[in-house]
Amino acid sequence: MQLQQLEANPNRSAMADFEKGLLDDPPHIEFKFFYDKLGSHLFSAITELPEYYPTRTEVDIFSLHSEKIAQEFKGLESLIDLGAGNCAKAEGLFSVLAIAHYTAVDVSIDYLTETLGHLQARHPQIQVNGVGLDFSETLLPLKKCVQGPSIVFYPGSSIGNFSPAETRRFLTQVRALACGGGLLIGVDLVKDKAVLELAYDDPLGVTAAFNLNMLRHVNRSMGANFDVSDWSHLSFYNEQESRIEMHLRAKREVIVKWQTGSRMFLEGDLLHTENSYKWTIPAFSSLLGELGYSQVKAWTDPKHQFAVFSAHAI
Ligand code: AVJ
Repeated sequence: MQLQQLEANPNRSAMADFEKGLLDDPPHIEFKFFYDKLGSHLFSAITELPEYYPTRTEVDIFSLHSEKIAQEFKGLESLIDLGAGNCAKAEGLFSVLAIAHYTAVDVSIDYLTETLGHLQARHPQIQVNGVGLDFSETLLPLKKCVQGPSIVFYPGSSIGNFSPAETRRFLTQVRALACGGGLLIGVDLVKDKAVLELAYDDPLGVTAAFNLNMLRHVNRSMGANFDVSDWSHLSFYNEQESRIEMHLRAKREVIVKWQTGSRMFLEGDLLHTENSYKWTIPAFSSLLGELGYSQVKAWTDPKHQFAVFSAHAI
């Protein structure tokens, strides 16, 4: 087993980016600040909610279509997992895809180390590698073609956090990374507004806690002084842009300070925390075609809530 940490852009300052976002109009905080330890647990709780259909629907699609999906990738034995987290989704595909090399990529190598140790013990015949990289900006630091043509796996509809322009850039880099192999990606679909809005504003308030927890994270990591009780969760479906938007809304006038600056918010002012883009099967299929992918196939659930796309990267 081999583990390594890579740096996307060592010259970039997290502090300067954070400050730029807060001083922007409208102000925003990068969605990566959702995922401290508690935030990751809260996201995991979201996936258990009856209203949050994506995770469960994607699981159903894999159990329904995995053999046919495997047919699409015959001869490929290397899997590069860009949604690694706890690696459970990829592990479920090891046997049906007959994987010999597995590379898990995640923001933090610390988190991967323990998980991959257990995974390697369960699959001694697979060559397991772990790479720590915040690939939301670029995949370029990843060495290409080390294991030959590979299946790049990006489950969970995480692609939804990227704007259409960023999605193009990312999928172009993915095609190069696959080295003539393929792509297997989970994408959330455009659907009834009420269904979408309930998935991002559940009555238990787990999504609200997930959104608000970001403030605790930036208080710790960026030296900010947000008071969680000054803010409330707001999310809605923006039909024009085909995306769920999540914001935090100031309940009263507040002045927020951080290490290097401050900003005033008036009652009702919004702080943008996330976009989650929804696609149609035709739009995402033609995007993949335009970017040079071939044999594009969409696998979906009976209610067409979610889609898994398979494609050849040649
Ligand atoms: C992890 C980006 C797929 O957009 O559905 C869940 C994050 N935000 N509820 C999504 C999220 C609010 C999630 N992704």
